[in-house]
Amino acid sequence: VNIVTSKNQRRLRSGSIGGGSSIIQPFNAEAEAEAEANATHRHLNIANSVESIREEIRDLIRNNSVLAPKFLRLAFHDCVGGCDGCVDMTNPDNAGLDIPMDSLSGIVSAWKSSDISRADIWSLAAMVGSEMTQAQRDFRLDYVGRTDCEDSGRECLDENTNSRECRQDLGDARVLPDANLLIHEILSFFSDNFGFNAQETVALMGAHSIGTASQENSGFNGPVGWDNTNYFLDNDYYKMLIGGDPSKSDPEAEEMEDLIEFAPGWAQQRVVNGGSIPDRIQWTRGRTQDTARIISLNTDIGLARDLTGEIDSDGDVSCNFKNPAPRCPVASQTMDWMTTYRYDEEKFLEDFEGVLKKMIIAGYDAETELTYVAPPLFSTVTVPEISVAQLSYAGGLSVQLNVENPGGDRVWIAIRRHDISPHDSTGSGSSEAWSYVCGSTTCNDQSLVSNSFDIDDIGDGLWRAYLMKDMTFPYEAIAFSNTFSVGSTGISSSLDRYESGATVNLDFANILSSRFWITVYPADSTPADAQSGSLETWAWPCGDQTCNGDTMSSGEVSFNTIGDGVWRAFIMLDMYSPYESVAFSKTFAVGAVDQILVNKEGYSVGENIEVSFYNPTGARVWIGVYPASSDPNNLQGSTAAWSWPCGTRTCTGTDQYLTDGTFELLVREGEWRVYMMRDMTYPYSSVAYSDLFIVSPSTPNPTTAPPTAQPTSKPTTAPPTNRPTPLATTAIPTPMPSPLPTQNPTPQPSAPPSVSPTSSPTSFPTIGETQSYAELQSRISELEDIIKQMEDAGCTV
Ligand code: HEM
Repeated sequence: VNIVTSKNQRRLRSGSIGGGSSIIQPFNAEAEAEAEANATHRHLNIANSVESIREEIRDLIRNNSVLAPKFLRLAFHDCVGGCDGCVDMTNPDNAGLDIPMDSLSGIVSAWKSSDISRADIWSLAAMVGSEMTQAQRDFRLDYVGRTDCEDSGRECLDENTNSRECRQDLGDARVLPDANLLIHEILSFFSDNFGFNAQETVALMGAHSIGTASQENSGFNGPVGWDNTNYFLDNDYYKMLIGGDPSKSDPEAEEMEDLIEFAPGWAQQRVVNGGSIPDRIQWTRGRTQDTARIISLNTDIGLARDLTGEIDSDGDVSCNFKNPAPRCPVASQTMDWMTTYRYDEEKFLEDFEGVLKKMIIAGYDAETELTYVAPPLFSTVTVPEISVAQLSYAGGLSVQLNVENPGGDRVWIAIRRHDISPHDSTGSGSSEAWSYVCGSTTCNDQSLVSNSFDIDDIGDGLWRAYLMKDMTFPYEAIAFSNTFSVGSTGISSSLDRYESGATVNLDFANILSSRFWITVYPADSTPADAQSGSLETWAWPCGDQTCNGDTMSSGEVSFNTIGDGVWRAFIMLDMYSPYESVAFSKTFAVGAVDQILVNKEGYSVGENIEVSFYNPTGARVWIGVYPASSDPNNLQGSTAAWSWPCGTRTCTGTDQYLTDGTFELLVREGEWRVYMMRDMTYPYSSVAYSDLFIVSPSTPNPTTAPPTAQPTSKPTTAPPTNRPTPLATTAIPTPMPSPLPTQNPTPQPSAPPSVSPTSSPTSFPTIGETQSYAELQSRISELEDIIKQMEDAGCTV
């Protein structure tokens, strides 16, 4: 029995499974072997059909992104009581499901067969919706063979158990979860209907990370949905309900109190509805003047707070989520899992996929009643994909992109804010940077099926790389990457140096999320993971530790409790440890401490590097340039440049004891830091070091401006007039970087003595002695240079 619809026959012929014909040619006469071969073919045919349907569903979502969450909701409602491709549209709880049903109806009529049912297609649509709203996991359908209600050979029952004709919109009356269920009722509901435990229930409820609620359907008013990125399936749903103490570095160290105290605040709101829809109680957060605030239902809040005994029949809750008192008690059965997912998005997505797969086989024994969908041997479907090599980049560095199967010759890549929906019909958020798939804004090879290249000039912030369909405005993305951060100047200190006890002012810009916070760590903390130092102080962007400035994107925060030392200010991604910074300032010093600074982050070869130093004790110091990755307490090898604090290698006497000053140095291409040393003991140990700076070959010609003249609403049908440069079919316009300046010629910059003196001076010489010591040292440097050159030339010295 080889079930091949005309449609998948066509697909099979077009070349996936080795000719894929429906005619089976047994290799031996054994009936058993033939049956096995038949079964294998049948499975492969099914797998290919599923692959094709998958692609058709993807097209639907690409054309109308709001369908992704609607497919998920449809599958949930269908699978309550067993997935049978039918929902009871006379039940108001199903209001709005006509949209996903109607949009899938074309696919259903083309593909529904005895192997693939409407219920299968609805389940598949939920998987595809989940797959397309995040960039980490594929959501594959494992089984087909669900029976649609009208094919079950029975009658459907209405809410009074009277029988009626079964139809996709008139399935069995089923009890859907009320939005005022208490936590134990929620757990019972999912246990009774799906056999889920508390963990599975909590994971599945993360579905509310995507989609919205509308008064028209449910009476709830949530045009923005449950979190600030309602297109993206992520763990923000949990982050909105569970807090964490930013001063603690270990999730395990979080006290229950922190999970509550540091959670975002929620307030109840009554939504007044007319007609048959009752008024609703929902929870909202965000600025009050903002009409588009995120929402939670009592059942969402109920996963974090036990509302037992607190809700009246309207849904009004007598306790508060956080403040003021009385605070609702903690939902102890689910709190741990809510916390786990809040901290761990990867685990959430993994568990969500697992529980969703379980949900969509509800009502069936998969082993005996369903057919396993073997993965297709050769998929004819190529899915456009874009990814970034790293999730965080320091400011000024290139971001590495990988593109697969972009398809189409007008596809381009845009770097846009991480929270912009790929189907951003408003056109908001113009591109930060852009490129053709071939790797630049001027290249001309549009036939690439995969490519990896760097993209530059991405400012500080949280971004995604989007693969854009074409040049028609408003732009639409066909794929997107994970969120990645770029940052070094999102926050800066007003001064490089403050007096002890003085107020430190930090200016920040480009705060992209209500969860960002600002903190100060020792200067040597690792930017991507600032917890490696211990936190000195912190504040919300609105200025202190208690204010609520949800949507502030720029401003100033002042601290007057920062102790003496060299510090760095960070903008942190969210409150959930391990803390991650999305941007960080240059170092700044408080009090009389050693400090060394350079005036910029990037230089061209041949450009002077301005070095400033503070040496409050007036001890004798020297300043050397070493690779940025050097251990500041164990500096080895030759310096790339060095100087006494006077700015030369020849100054003597008091010039070697300056307490502060500024001078210039020239350094060859590379990534460097300037280190300040107090003695000559090799390997050198620095007392202060600068921020990293990059010396690069002179900058290439600027490229054509990206198509960011965005919201000029173009007629969507018009030809892509805003295509940046007409593409030459022959020679690519070559804004090649001008020939690289030649590398520094071989004579290495001379270095301070790189050989340990046999006995290090126990006390500093007097000024008189120092002169001859300096002379001696400069001679040693010269000799070292000569030796180095001789060694480079192959001599043994
Ligand atoms: C206690 C359980 C649940 C309750 C009370 C509940 C309630 C609701 C309500 C009232 C809406 C708004 C519908 C509208 O106005 O259009 C909604 C939307 C949604 N629900 Fe649930 N839900 C629950 C569980 C689930 C589960 C388990 C899933 C998925 C597996 C899910 C997926 C969704 C999605 C994706 C949306 C957004 C739909 C859209 O954007 O159109 N829900 N839910």
